[in-house]
Amino acid sequence: MDVMNAIKERRAVRAFSDKKIEPEKLEAIMDAGRLAPTARNEQRCKFIAVTDEGLKTELMAASKGLKFVKEAPVVLVACADKDMMLPCGQSAKVIDCTIAMSFMWLEAVEQGIQGCWLGLFDADKVRKILNIPDDYVVPVVMPIGYALADGQPNAKKGKEETFVYDKM
Ligand SMILES: Cc1cc2nc3c(=O)[nH]c(=O)nc-3n(C[C@H](O)[C@H](O)[C@H](O)COP(=O)(O)O)c2cc1C
Repeated sequence: MDVMNAIKERRAVRAFSDKKIEPEKLEAIMDAGRLAPTARNEQRCKFIAVTDEGLKTELMAASKGLKFVKEAPVVLVACADKDMMLPCGQSAKVIDCTIAMSFMWLEAVEQGIQGCWLGLFDADKVRKILNIPDDYVVPVVMPIGYALADGQPNAKKGKEETFVYDKM
């Protein structure tokens, strides 16, 4: 699959089949995060693949009870230590984690796996559940697995609404 196909095939999937993710596929997904760019190449992100049923149940509770968090065979968590503000005023570590998770998501799609980006979780609870130190940012949790059904892609704005050349 080329990158654009993976981008087009990707969609937020919130219902997963019972099929486990093969270890070599999961490793390829995690590797895509490892190879992603980071500010100053500091590579402070850690990627946690949660497969333990008890931990997934606790993560579900930390995500307002969203059932697909427990039902997904794997829940990916990206986190990074010692936040650094970039001169543009944004958090480098949050950006690093989100780029990495985006790469992992596309690699997952390449492997036939889908997921759903989650912002609806209590980061303090997730840190406690997974032994993540207090000074780590946890910007994203992503349940992944084989989709239960072929979903339709969400409508996206057209190019004329999203592209401009030169000035806004
Ligand atoms: C930053 C971010 C946070 C999100 N948080 C949630 C969430 O908490 N719960 C959820 O069900 N979906 C969440 N989503 C998924 C979006 O709703 C979904 O990506 C969006 O509707 C577009 O659909 P698509 O991913 O199929 O293109 C989030 C997506 C992003 C990018």
